[in-house]
Amino acid sequence: MIAITGASGHLGKATLEFLLNKTSPESIVAIVRDPQKVTEFADKGVIVRQGDYNDQASFAASLADVDTLLLISSASLGDERVHQHSNVINAAKEAGVKHIFYTSAPNPSTTALFTPAIDHFRTENLIIESGLTYTIFRNNLYMDILPMVLGDAAQSGKLHYPAGAGKISFALRTDIAEALANALTSEGHDNKVYNIGATTAWSFSDVADGLSQNGKSVEYIDIPNSAYTTELEKHLPAPIAKMLAGMAEAMKQNDFNLPSPTLEQLLGREPISLEAYLKTLA
Ligand SMILES: NC(=O)c1ccc[n+]([C@@H]2O[C@H](COP(=O)([O-])OP(=O)(O)OC[C@H]3O[C@@H](n4cnc5c(N)ncnc54)[C@H](OP(=O)(O)O)[C@@H]3O)[C@@H](O)[C@H]2O)c1
Repeated sequence: MIAITGASGHLGKATLEFLLNKTSPESIVAIVRDPQKVTEFADKGVIVRQGDYNDQASFAASLADVDTLLLISSASLGDERVHQHSNVINAAKEAGVKHIFYTSAPNPSTTALFTPAIDHFRTENLIIESGLTYTIFRNNLYMDILPMVLGDAAQSGKLHYPAGAGKISFALRTDIAEALANALTSEGHDNKVYNIGATTAWSFSDVADGLSQNGKSVEYIDIPNSAYTTELEKHLPAPIAKMLAGMAEAMKQNDFNLPSPTLEQLLGREPISLEAYLKTLA
C-alpha cells in the first residue's frame, strides 16, 4: 500500500487524484489530521487514516501495512518542523515501511537563505540515516505562489520585487503531483535525489513580460530587500516575514536556478511553462 501524508493539502490532494489513475483506491492510504477534509477521496474508496506529525505513536498505527510512504513536508518552520518530520520517519521505521518519498527544496543546506531549506537539509539527513530506501523530490518553487508575490502588478503595470536578475526553475504544483504519482507507482527511484523543476529558468523580468497581456505592459522594478522586509514585517509574523524575505534573496542569488530534465522525464511530457501559467491568470 502507498500512503500519503498531508493528504488534505493542495499537493496531497492533487497527488491522490493522479494516483487514482494509476492504482486501485484500496491500495492508497490518505493520512490527515481531519478526515472531514478528504471525504471526496473516502467516497472513491481511498483508505483514510488519522495522523498528526506531532504524535509519533498514532502515526505508526496509521502506517500499518504501508510499504511506500510519501511524506509531504509540514507547513511549520524550524525546529518544530524537523521534529514533526522526525516523528514521521521514526513512525515509518516502527511500522515497517520500506520506501519513503519526501518533498524537499532546492539547495538544502545549514546556511540556506531560504530558511525552509535548512529544515529540509536536516530532514533529508534524518531520512538517509534512517536506513529506509528513499526518494527525495527537491521541489522548486511552485508557480502557484506567484499570485501572492505579484499583487496588483497586472493592473498597475509595475511589478516591485527584490529578486534582481536571479532566475527560478518554477514548476506547477499539479505537475509535481503528477510526477510524484508516477514515481510512487514505478521502479527505479531507490535512493535518488531529484531536482524537480522546469528544464529552463525565468527571471522576474520574464515574469513581467508574461504578465504583459492584452496590450498592457508590466515593468519589473527590482527593489532593495531591506525595503521589502520592512513592508513584510508590517503585516506578517516575524518568522514568516523572514522566510519570505529570504526566499526573495535566494531567488536573487540563483538558489532556485536549477534547470533539470527530471520533471519532464517523470511526466513523459514537457512541464507547464511559466508563460502558459501566467496566461491562465489573465
Ligand atoms: N515549493 C514551494 O513553492 C512550496 C510552497 C509552499 C509550501 N511548500 C511545502 O510543500 C508542502 C506541501 O505544499 P501544499 O501546497 O500542499 O501545502 P498545504 O496546502 O498547506 O498543505 C499542507 C499539508 O500539511 C498538513 N499538515 C500540516 N501540519 C500537519 C501536522 N501537524 N500533522 C499532519 N499533517 C499536517 C496539512 O494538514 P491540514 O489540512 O490538517 O492543515 C496539509 O494537508 C507544504 O507543507 C510546505 O512544506 C512548498
